[in-house]
Amino acid sequence: MAIRKGLAKPIGSLTEMGTARLGKRTDNRSPSIREFVPLAELNDIVFGGWDIFDDNCYESAKHAGVLDEKLLDQVKDELSAIKPMSAVFDRYYVKRLDGPNVKKGKNKKDLADQLVADIRKFKADNKCSRLVLIWAGSTEIFLTESACHSSLAAFEKGLVDNDPAISPSQIYAYAALSEGLPYGNAAPNLSAEVPALRELANKTGSPICGSDMKTGQTLIKTIIAPGLKARLIGVAGWYSTNILGNRDGEVLDDPESFKSKEESKKGALDYIFQPHLYPDLYKDISHVVRINYYPPRGDNKEGWDNIDIFGWLGYPMQLKINFLCRDSILAAPIVLDVALFLDLSKRAGFKGIQEWLSFYFKSPMHAPDIYPEHDLFIQLMKLKNTLRYMRGEELITHLGREYYD
Ligand SMILES: NC(=O)c1ccc[n+]([C@@H]2O[C@H](COP(=O)([O-])OP(=O)(O)OC[C@H]3O[C@@H](n4cnc5c(N)ncnc54)[C@H](O)[C@@H]3O)[C@@H](O)[C@H]2O)c1
Repeated sequence: MAIRKGLAKPIGSLTEMGTARLGKRTDNRSPSIREFVPLAELNDIVFGGWDIFDDNCYESAKHAGVLDEKLLDQVKDELSAIKPMSAVFDRYYVKRLDGPNVKKGKNKKDLADQLVADIRKFKADNKCSRLVLIWAGSTEIFLTESACHSSLAAFEKGLVDNDPAISPSQIYAYAALSEGLPYGNAAPNLSAEVPALRELANKTGSPICGSDMKTGQTLIKTIIAPGLKARLIGVAGWYSTNILGNRDGEVLDDPESFKSKEESKKGALDYIFQPHLYPDLYKDISHVVRINYYPPRGDNKEGWDNIDIFGWLGYPMQLKINFLCRDSILAAPIVLDVALFLDLSKRAGFKGIQEWLSFYFKSPMHAPDIYPEHDLFIQLMKLKNTLRYMRGEELITHLGREYYD
C-alpha cells in the first residue's frame, strides 16, 4: 500500500526493481523484468487472508511493531479494510499459539470445503480474475510423509477420516490446488511437498513452490558458501545462531516447530559443498544451527555465524558474520515476487513444481529424482533463463566466445 502511494520503494523485489539482460552484451538490451514479462500490476492486486486472530491488518501491523507509526498511519484506511477470514487451525500443530478466529467443522474435508467457499467468495466479492495462495502462517510441527500423503485418493480419504498426518497448512494447500490456484509455501513445515498434493497440482494445472523463504541467515549462507567452494577453500565447521523476538521466534521456541526449521536450514550446505565430490574439503563439516527466542529483539533479528575454514596446506582461518537484519523487511519482497511469478507461471501453462523459483527458498521443492539447487547465483540464472524461455528469447550461458571470434 505504501509503495502504491509512492511513500516508499519496493527494495529487494526482483519483479519491481530487477532487470534481465537479453541477447549479447553488445546489444545493450536489459529491460526491467516488469517490462519483459507480463506481471500483475501492484495497483491491481487485492490482498486477503485468514488468521486465528481477528485483528485487521492495521491493528496487526501496529501490534507487530515492525513499521513506523508514521508510515502505518498513512495507509491506515487501506490496511484497516483487510480483515482476516476465520482460520483452519489446531493447536496440536502449533503448540505456542491459540486464538479465537477459528473455523469448526465435522472433519478436515468439511474444513477444506469451507476454505474453498472462502476462496470463491473472496474472488467474487473483489472481482478478481485470478488468485494465488501463499502459506505464510506459523511454522507447524515437524511432520514427515505418511501413507495418507502417498496419493490424492489416500489424502482425500485422510481428510474425511481426520488423519492426524494432515496439517492445517495442507488443508489450505488442498483447497487452493483443487480450485486451480498456484500455491507457495513460505514456511518450513511440510505442506504441498507430498506426492498427493503434487498429483492434485498436476491434475488442476496449478504451479507450486516452497519451502521456507530464504531471507536472513540462510540467504547469507548461500551467498558465502558458493564463493568458498568456487575457490576450493575447506570448511571444518559452520556454527549459526540467531536471536529474535517476534511471534515467529515464539512459535519456534517450541521444539517441535523448531525441528521443522532446523531441518530446512541445515540442508543447504550439504548440497552446495557436495562433500561426496570434495571429501578433502567438506566431508566432516560440523554444521550447527540454533534459534533463540529473545523478546527484546522483536523483529530485528540477529544472525551470527562462525565459519572455520582452511586453506593451502590445511592452515586454519576463521570468518565471522554478524547480520543485524529485519525479518519482515527481508520477507516482504519475496512474498510479493513469489505471488507474481506463480501467477505468471499459471498463465504460461506451467504446473506442478516450479524449480525456477528455488531462488526464494531455503529448502527448494524439486523433482524426487534430482537434488535441489541451493547456490543463489545458479538459482538466479535459472530464474532469469526461465523468463527468457517464456518469452522465446535466447538463453544466456555466459560462454561468451563470440566476443573474441
Ligand atoms: N523473514 C521471515 O519473516 C521468514 C523467513 C522465512 C520463513 N518464514 C516463515 O514464514 C512463516 C510466517 O512467519 P512470520 O514471521 O510472518 O510469523 P508471524 O507469527 O508474524 O505470523 C504468522 C501468522 O500466522 C497465523 N497463523 C498460524 N496458524 C494459522 C492457521 N492455521 N491459519 C491461519 N493463520 C495462522 C498466526 O496467528 C500469525 O498471525 C513462519 O513459518 C516463518 O518461519 C518467515
